[in-house]
Amino acid sequence: MLTSKKIILVIGATGVQGGAVIDALLQPLADGSPSPYTIRALTRDPQSQRAKELASRGIEVVKGSTNDLDTVAAALEGVYGAYVNTDSFTIGEQKETFCGIRIFELAKQVKTVRHYVWSGADNVNKKTNYDPQYAPAHYTGKARVGDWMRAQPSVVSDDNMSWTILSTAPYMDMLQTGIYGPLRVRPDGTYVFASPFGQGHVPMITLADLGCFARYIFDHRAETSAQELEAASDVVSWDELVATFTKVTGKKAVNLALSIEEWFALFNQEDVARPAAPDTTTTFKETYSRIARLYRDDIITRDLAWIRRVHPGVRTVESWMRENAYTGDLRREAPQAGRRPRPNFERIAQL
Ligand SMILES: NC(=O)c1ccc[n+]([C@@H]2O[C@H](COP(=O)([O-])OP(=O)(O)OC[C@H]3O[C@@H](n4cnc5c(N)ncnc54)[C@H](OP(=O)(O)O)[C@@H]3O)[C@@H](O)[C@H]2O)c1
Repeated sequence: MLTSKKIILVIGATGVQGGAVIDALLQPLADGSPSPYTIRALTRDPQSQRAKELASRGIEVVKGSTNDLDTVAAALEGVYGAYVNTDSFTIGEQKETFCGIRIFELAKQVKTVRHYVWSGADNVNKKTNYDPQYAPAHYTGKARVGDWMRAQPSVVSDDNMSWTILSTAPYMDMLQTGIYGPLRVRPDGTYVFASPFGQGHVPMITLADLGCFARYIFDHRAETSAQELEAASDVVSWDELVATFTKVTGKKAVNLALSIEEWFALFNQEDVARPAAPDTTTTFKETYSRIARLYRDDIITRDLAWIRRVHPGVRTVESWMRENAYTGDLRREAPQAGRRPRPNFERIAQL
């Protein structure tokens, strides 16, 4: 189909992140005129419910997989931009590292791509002097690709390609699930939150804000060329988060600051003992212990003043709770609910 709009290929389009990016890219301009972008969505299964939903909105859906790079090359043909969110947990760190590099090269070879955006992650290896207790594979793969990209040219011109890295953070929307949200309500009505983060701070990003940052990047090609944007919506300790919950909902709540071992005992032990990705024996428990240590020990920080300058409407935990009429009652269909380990109800009942 001929279009004067800029086609953006979204890899990970049917996921929660890709969905938010697509929504933001299709937003009309401030004066009400239509968005300058149109979307090509890559999926392994065009017949999935999510892919059909995208197609029903008039979005071009193409079949492909990051496991088959010829399909990715075909999907890149003719696009102006690419938003690439490879799925660490499905493909594993080794493949993600290779795919991240190779998809960039394919984008350069295709010749139509002008702006390549990599959904990245903080380089926790560098930030901790390569301490393995802080190195979850879904950070290290994405960060390694980001480092490699920094060694590549980023050219802002009508006939060449620039790149930008958007390093994100845990989705605030996961407060709707058992990983971040309250684990139980005591008979006296107290909502029980539990975390392994101690007094540390967790940068979180709402999916809607993540979409806004992606849109900002495509709208500001020259400014964001060769840059890594470290995004978040808010940075909070769990005590602050729980106090905000009470302020917003009027409900009693408690934050149990647990050790990492105590926290994992709240989940099904078979689930947390599973490998976190197909190419590793590192378990879900070890992977998420590394994440817990990153936040507990304040390894990952964010410049909230810069973030609020770039995106003045960025949410806080409080505004996100108000906007979503957050009650603390968990939603089954919450983002990535299928990936979380099953709760250990016996242990949780004792909290
Ligand atoms: N959870 C968080 O807080 C968080 C925060 C920041 C970043 N991330 C990162 O985001 C990534 C996951 O994305 P998400 O959060 O949107 O998860 P999601 O909702 O589970 O979506 C996963 C997406 O990956 C696609 N996908 C999986 N394997 C693929 C393959 N071989 N080829 C092409 N597409 C494939 C799926 O597409 P189809 O099934 O349609 O093919 C789907 O669109 C992970 O790398 C994770 O580390 C997560």
